[in-house]
Amino acid sequence: MNRYIAIVLLSLSCLAVVPAAGSARDADHSAAQEGFVHGAPSQPSRAWTLAAGGRIYDTWWEALDRKKPESTNPSYPANGKRTGATTWRCVECHGWDYQGKDGLNRSGEKYTGIKGIRDARGRSTGSLARLMRAAPHNYTTEMIRDDELQRLVAFIKNGQHDTDAFIDRTTGKVRGDANRGAALFQTQCAACHGFDGRALNWGTAQEPGYVGTESKALPWEVLHKIRNSHPGAAMINLRALPLSDAVDVLTYAQTLPEK
Ligand code: HEC
Ligand code: HEC
Repeated sequence: MNRYIAIVLLSLSCLAVVPAAGSARDADHSAAQEGFVHGAPSQPSRAWTLAAGGRIYDTWWEALDRKKPESTNPSYPANGKRTGATTWRCVECHGWDYQGKDGLNRSGEKYTGIKGIRDARGRSTGSLARLMRAAPHNYTTEMIRDDELQRLVAFIKNGQHDTDAFIDRTTGKVRGDANRGAALFQTQCAACHGFDGRALNWGTAQEPGYVGTESKALPWEVLHKIRNSHPGAAMINLRALPLSDAVDVLTYAQTLPEK
C-alpha cells in the first residue's frame, strides 16, 4: 500500500467515532478506544477488575454496551420518585456512598428505603452472584453476562470505600490534600478535561457540567468515577493507585470553576 493511502486510512480510522448503543448520554469514543472502553484485558489485574465492576454498579448498560432498559424496573419501590432506565441502576437503589437508606439516599428524591451494600462485603462470591440473578434484582445473562457479574461481585466485596471517612456528609467538603491533588489533576485528568476542568461539558451552555461543577455538587459520585471511570467513556481511572490519591484529586477538583 502506498504511504499516502496508508496515512489517509489511518487518520480515517482515528476519526471514526463509535456511537454508543445505549443512550445519547454515553460519551462517544474513537474506534481505536473501543477495546479499552468495552473490552477486557486477556489477563485482568485486580485493579482493572474492581474498576470494571464499579462501572457496572454505576450504569451497567453503558459499561457493557447493552441495550438501555426502556421501562421502569418492576422491583423499584412504589414510594420512590424515579422512573425509567435509571431504576435499573444499582446506584439508584443503593447510592453513591453504598449506604442506601442510611446514607445519601436517606431522604429526598432518591429515598426508597432500600439498604446499602456495605454489609454484603463479607458474603461469598457465589451467594452474591445468585443474589443478582434472583428477585428483587432479576438481572438476566442478556443484561449482565456471568463473567461480567464476577467483576461486579468483586467490586461489592473488595471495591467499596467508606465515603464518610473523606467527605463531610452535610457540607460535601472533601478532606484531602489539594496540593497533591493539583499535581495529579494537572498531569492526568487535564489531558482530557483541561487544566481548569472545563474542556469537557456534559451539561448545557447555560448550565454547564464541568469537573468543578460536579465535584462540588456530587463529590460522592465523582469519587466513584475517579476510582472506576465513567461508563462508556474513554476515561482513565485511579484504581491502581492508593485511595488517598483519588481523594486528593477530588479535593483539588472542588477548587475548579463551576461555570
Ligand atoms: C430497584 C432497586 C434495586 C436495584 C436497581 C438494585 N438493587 Fe440491590 N437490593 C434491592 C433490595 C430491595 C434489596 C434487599 C434489601 C433488604 O434486604 O432490605 C437489595 C439487596 C442488595 C444486596 C444485599 C445487601 C445486604 O446487605 O443484604 C446487594 C449486595 C445488592 N443489592 C447489590 C446490587 C447491585 C450490585 C445492583 C446492580 C447490579 C443492585 N443491587 C440493584 C434493590 C435494588
Ligand atoms: C483520556 C481522557 C480522560 C481522562 C484522562 C480523564 N477523563 Fe474524565 N471523562 C472523560 C470523558 C470522555 C468523559 C465523559 C464526558 C461526557 O459524558 O460527555 C469523562 C467524564 C468525567 C466526569 C463526569 C462524569 C459524569 O457524571 O458525567 C468526571 C467527574 C470526570 N470525568 C473526572 C475526571 C477526573 C477527576 C480525571 C482524573 C483522575 C479524569 N476525569 C480523567 C475523559 C477523561
